[in-house]
Amino acid sequence: MKKISRKVKIGFILLVVGIFIMSFKHTKFQQAVFTAPASADAKVNPLKGDANATAEGKKTYDANCAICHGSKGLGDGIAAAGLSKTPANHSSAAIQKLTDGAIFWKISEGNNPMPSYKSIFSETQRWQLVNYIRTLAKQPKK
Ligand code: HEC
Repeated sequence: MKKISRKVKIGFILLVVGIFIMSFKHTKFQQAVFTAPASADAKVNPLKGDANATAEGKKTYDANCAICHGSKGLGDGIAAAGLSKTPANHSSAAIQKLTDGAIFWKISEGNNPMPSYKSIFSETQRWQLVNYIRTLAKQPKK
């Protein structure tokens, strides 16, 4: 019990901080359907296949994204229930069929309540996240 309540507390604090940060950007144009422009697809992932980068991406993901997207990327993080939109399920075919460039663009730009990370994480860190999201793909049952 104690363990869970502590997690919830930390989650709540992170959520409040997140909302506070996002409130500065509330005027940003919001898309009804979160879609990357075709030009994003042309961006080549400079870290593709780099295992160290993927490991770094996991660290960033666990610390910053799992609160909403869940530790396995299923869209079931502890803050998910309080959002106006369900966080994307990163293991889903819909996400996995996106190009690396499109995922990179979405992490960079955000779409409220999904935060924009271009001024928070370097390009390298954002590509590391793309690498890690690839590992969340739903595995076919064996
Ligand atoms: C405050 C909660 C929250 C946090 C934190 C968050 N996301 Fe999201 N994310 C969302 C929501 C909600 C959506 C769906 C937005 C939409 O559909 O308009 C989303 C969508 C996305 C998408 C787009 C999926 C698609 O529809 O194609 C990607 C990629 C993504 N998030 C990656 C990340 C990464 C990587 C991080 C951490 C660096 C992160 N998110 C942190 C809430 C969050």
